[in-house]
Amino acid sequence: MSEKPWAGRFSLPTDKFVEEFNASIHFDKRFAEYDIKGSMAHVRMLAKQGIILESESEQILEGLKTVLEEIESGKFEFKTEDEDIHMAVEKRLRELIGQVAGKLHTARSRNDQVAVDFRMYLRQEIFEIKNYLKLLLETILNKAKNEIDAVMPGYTHLQTAQPILFSHYMMAYFEMFKRDYQRFTDIIDRLNYSPLGAGALAGTTFNIDREFTAKELGFIAPTLNSLDSVSDRDFALEFLSAASICQMHLSRMSEEFIIFSTSEFAFIELSDDYCTGSSIMPQKKNPDIPELIRGKTGRVYGNMISLFTTMKGLPLAYNKDMQEDKEPVFDTVDTLKASLKIFSPMIEKMKLNKSKMYSSAKLGFSTATDLADYLVRRGLPFRDAHHVVGRAVAYCLDKGVDLSDLTIEELKGFSELIKDDIYDYITLEASVNSRKATGGTAKVSVEHQIKLGQEFLSEN
Ligand code: ARG
Repeated sequence: MSEKPWAGRFSLPTDKFVEEFNASIHFDKRFAEYDIKGSMAHVRMLAKQGIILESESEQILEGLKTVLEEIESGKFEFKTEDEDIHMAVEKRLRELIGQVAGKLHTARSRNDQVAVDFRMYLRQEIFEIKNYLKLLLETILNKAKNEIDAVMPGYTHLQTAQPILFSHYMMAYFEMFKRDYQRFTDIIDRLNYSPLGAGALAGTTFNIDREFTAKELGFIAPTLNSLDSVSDRDFALEFLSAASICQMHLSRMSEEFIIFSTSEFAFIELSDDYCTGSSIMPQKKNPDIPELIRGKTGRVYGNMISLFTTMKGLPLAYNKDMQEDKEPVFDTVDTLKASLKIFSPMIEKMKLNKSKMYSSAKLGFSTATDLADYLVRRGLPFRDAHHVVGRAVAYCLDKGVDLSDLTIEELKGFSELIKDDIYDYITLEASVNSRKATGGTAKVSVEHQIKLGQEFLSEN
């Protein structure tokens, strides 16, 4: 067992199982690249401030470069006895350049080190997640554009409510994922401050330049309070929250794809390469991918609750509990990235069964409100109009037809206010295209949404 860097005041070596239990290296090795970049900036600052010699800084920088290369090429050996990535890097540095390696940790603690690593890591991951989101937004927008005229039933309570354009339905999700994109941008704005130099908790006695390291590492500025710097995990909580909302959006859309691809609905057909079969029922084509995305939402929520719970009772400043902050974030990063990555091509390749959507839109008397509105516009109080249409619907149910299938004589029989122009109001097309006000389902309105969506994409 190797001597620990902190072993000076100890008379017994760490118990083997305690060592394993205490270690985080098997997961925080994900920070390796950021840990080394943070150390490079720190060491340059130490030399600039005259805290270490220029020649010492050069030696350390050379050594750190070698360690980074070893990690990137897979040569680096991650050992439990090194406890975490911070100590593993420093130990390897010492093997490479000798005792001068010990100067790297001047005016720094693992507490500010892990905080700066975590922020850099998450900043990069959020950047990548935003790219996947942008691709998804483009895919949704293109689907809406290409299928602008397709009519489908709109639902409340999963009961047919009013006809809508499929493109309107798509653009609803555009709005959701657009907000997700904006939320991730907001998180970076608040996350992008450097805790490096906060020390263990109270700052440092050395004359360091935190503005310099902040700038070197691409942060806006240093954080302002050393206690907060080492104990704050709001950025991770914000990320887990935003990721949960985003995954929830994916899950809701998945749920609809699952329902819409049943043989009862048959509105859409997912591409064969995004489905699987059954080992016993030869006719089956299962929507595993949307099901899995819906299922994975559980772990994404779980990760969020996990960190909120870890943080809730912690006194300032750092506590070892906080080592539990990383795995939930890593898991959510992996899950969300994979879900987003698979979602865009799944939407792009799915096929619409437009005639089935159209005939289903007619099934539930989806234009009943339009008939009532027609009567109201001709002076009938809404309550009476509601009653008249109710009778017409009952009549149609009996005959097994839609309102728009009735003859003009039949329709006029329900109210003398009904005139020959009634069909201009109660067909699916008429119903859809009369909802022209901002945000409605009329084609002009959807076109407007698409135009604004395109502007958003070109600005971001
Ligand atoms: N591995 C630790 C973590 O992830 C690094 C910080 C350790 N700090 C300490 N004072 N023991 O939280």
